Amino acid sequence: MEKIVIAGGSGLIGTGLANHLRKAGHEVWILSRRPSDQDRFFLNWDPESRSIDSLAIAGTTVLINLCGAELAAKRWTKSRIKELYDSRVETTRFLFESFKNSSEIKHYVSASGAVAYGFEHPEKVYKEEDSFGNDIISDITRKWERAADQFSKICSVSKVRIAVVLSESGGALQKLANPIKKGFGAVLSSGEQAIPWIYSEDLYRVFELIIAHKLEGAYHASAGNTSNKELTKLIAKTLNKRLLPAVPKFVVRILFGKMAMMLLDGNKVSNEKIRSEGFSFLHGNLNSTIQRIFG
Ligand SMILES: NC(=O)c1ccc[n+]([C@@H]2O[C@H](COP(=O)([O-])OP(=O)(O)OC[C@H]3O[C@@H](n4cnc5c(N)ncnc54)[C@H](OP(=O)(O)O)[C@@H]3O)[C@@H](O)[C@H]2O)c1
Repeated sequence: MEKIVIAGGSGLIGTGLANHLRKAGHEVWILSRRPSDQDRFFLNWDPESRSIDSLAIAGTTVLINLCGAELAAKRWTKSRIKELYDSRVETTRFLFESFKNSSEIKHYVSASGAVAYGFEHPEKVYKEEDSFGNDIISDITRKWERAADQFSKICSVSKVRIAVVLSESGGALQKLANPIKKGFGAVLSSGEQAIPWIYSEDLYRVFELIIAHKLEGAYHASAGNTSNKELTKLIAKTLNKRLLPAVPKFVVRILFGKMAMMLLDGNKVSNEKIRSEGFSFLHGNLNSTIQRIFG
């Protein structure tokens, strides 16, 4: 049993992951900037003013970092882009400053992104050893992982390059489904843009395996690759809804500004590396996963 602290654990992934790891027998604490009157295993910090509850450090053997301002929540103004970087890179740096003298920490596990390889080769299935792309998201990911690597001075380091998480509780899938439910869903542009995906429960199992076997380095957490067109049509079919004609690229760009790249571009990734460590996906079929969520 480990004492696990999940920084940024109050969100979509953290809430489910904390429950999953508690069921597996670990003592799990959430580290958040906000108080909670519901969860007694809640600790506070404020990375901006550089304060942290000392209980988050004492006795902690595994530190998971899921912090990050939501990429698709607001238009990408200059200050928002800074927030996207700082909420990942600066929080990681502050965590390292806080833990660097700990003799108990054994493992640092950082969230990272699977869509970070650039969009020049849409048919290529990227592996973990491939280099990152040159767009904003790839650059954020590169700097986020570089900051995470500081922890290698004191413990093992893993970086979980997470695909788009399919969940009943929120996230990108529900955002995609909302307009479809209301009758104005549509494929975006050609719809060919790749979307690596993973069902939430499988993602928690990836984290569990990485912690149990102290797997170091980067791992894709992705069950497979779909496309905007395939996913949109599948959701519409499952919900028994019709789609409007595809939205042209220039309209998406006008509506979403710089953030449009998240909707118009994507890359495929391989899950061979995590499978070679013995991981098998419980939910590897997109059709039945969408049925499970919406059916
Ligand atoms: N969900 C996905 O499909 C997906 C895919 C790839 C990668 N990821 C990455 O995985 C991580 C977790 O994702 P999620 O879906 O669980 O996100 P989420 O629901 O938005 O939760 C992220 C957490 O980050 C914390 N946070 C936000 N801004 C912060 C800041 N400025 N400083 C410190 N903490 C901040 C928040 O915690 P408090 O407000 O409680 O402090 C929040 O609970 C994120 O880094 C995300 O980029 C997610």
